[in-house]
Amino acid sequence: MESRENFGSKIGAILAAAGSAVGLGNVWRFPIETGQNGGAAFIIIYMLCILVLGLPIMISEFLIGRHTHSNTAGAYRILANGGKWKWIGRLGVFTGWFILCYYGVVGGWTMHYTYLSATNAFSEVPAQEFGNIFESFAGNPWMPTLWLIIFFGATHIVITRGVQSGIEKFSKIMMPTLFIITIMLTVCSLMLPGATQGIEFLLRPDWSKVTSSTILQAMGQAFFSLSLGMGCLCTYASYFERTTPLAKTAINVSLIDTLIAIMAGFIIFPSVFNIGMDPNEVGAGASLTFISLPNVFQQSFGDGSILAVIFSTMFYFLLFVAALTSAISLHEVATAYITEEFNMDRKKGALLITLSITTLGILCSLSFGPLADIKVLDRNIFSMFDDFSGMVLLPLSGMLISIFAGWVLDRQLYREEITNSGEIKAPYFKLLIFSLRYVAPIAIGLVFLDQMGAFNFVK
Ligand code: PHE
Repeated sequence: MESRENFGSKIGAILAAAGSAVGLGNVWRFPIETGQNGGAAFIIIYMLCILVLGLPIMISEFLIGRHTHSNTAGAYRILANGGKWKWIGRLGVFTGWFILCYYGVVGGWTMHYTYLSATNAFSEVPAQEFGNIFESFAGNPWMPTLWLIIFFGATHIVITRGVQSGIEKFSKIMMPTLFIITIMLTVCSLMLPGATQGIEFLLRPDWSKVTSSTILQAMGQAFFSLSLGMGCLCTYASYFERTTPLAKTAINVSLIDTLIAIMAGFIIFPSVFNIGMDPNEVGAGASLTFISLPNVFQQSFGDGSILAVIFSTMFYFLLFVAALTSAISLHEVATAYITEEFNMDRKKGALLITLSITTLGILCSLSFGPLADIKVLDRNIFSMFDDFSGMVLLPLSGMLISIFAGWVLDRQLYREEITNSGEIKAPYFKLLIFSLRYVAPIAIGLVFLDQMGAFNFVK
């Protein structure tokens, strides 16, 4: 096989992995979950989940990727020595590919909303109209499809340029851009009258709101937000240099991810309070992002004003960048798999993946319009992709990864890798293994069972 590329620098590796982690989840799920689940109390629980669950699994994915220098399916195949564990890698590749199909639809929406914001299309729109604007856009058979194709086209271009001149270079430009925009938006938002209420809503610890389902939610969010369980980090780590410190890189990625998520809250809630809106009614996910927020930004910064245009455009552009770098990482999982396992040229492999995700992505997109009546388990095609991956595939693969890393992977190999053959100290080694063996599988198992209930298979 031709020699594999590596990331050219440690910072490039961190930014690429952070690009995967920082995505839509940071902006449209984390802030709402925090607000509704006891503010700082939720943030503390979330960080604990990252510490006990997220970091050990992230480090293991890094380790498996870097040790084998192979795509995710290849990595587990090599380590499983012909055994059944090789299926974990394939499951990861499938999960990533599957997620990408619907993730791209939302990526396309963020582009359309950047465009609408920049052209001042939200000026003087009555508050109740924003729902219709979104629904008629998402339900239109053409526009979302066009944006989806552009979004996947952009992803495709970065991927075909390769690891160093594509993914790494792009992350080195886009991640600092994302960070700067986040800071600017946060500062603007915090200067609004009413900002203190927003800060309080996010940060006041209210332990009375914490229930067992809060903890499950925090675990699920930590997992999704860190891009665990779908081969992204394993694939990226296969491009790490031998000298890249695994634990330190994982800590950096988690910190960046958490910081951006918290800042997203500071962007959203001050303006929500500023216009006297009830934060519990802004919704979450798509309805928050594409229905509540365009209105909130217009009202907060002056309807149709230049400030509203700038703020809103930067916000949707931020979402677009976050979604794009995550989509790139998902695409790379599948591209690395298909090119390496089937000995295919990278350009050809990437094209096959792009064509497949675009086809399925269009089906997901059309499920808001012409295909709305096609339902599986009570869900349209888009929700089916979203829920099946989030509730079933991700926890399943996370649980299997932790069991594999804790019970199957050779302990000596683990120690060698984590210490970079004795170069770095790893006093946390025993704790890490303990979490992988017991804490993580049990915790993720609980999330899994909980979500299976929500999935209503036996309806
Ligand atoms: N971590 C990304 C987010 O927070 C989502 C994602 C999931 C990205 C899976 C890649 C893979 O939105």
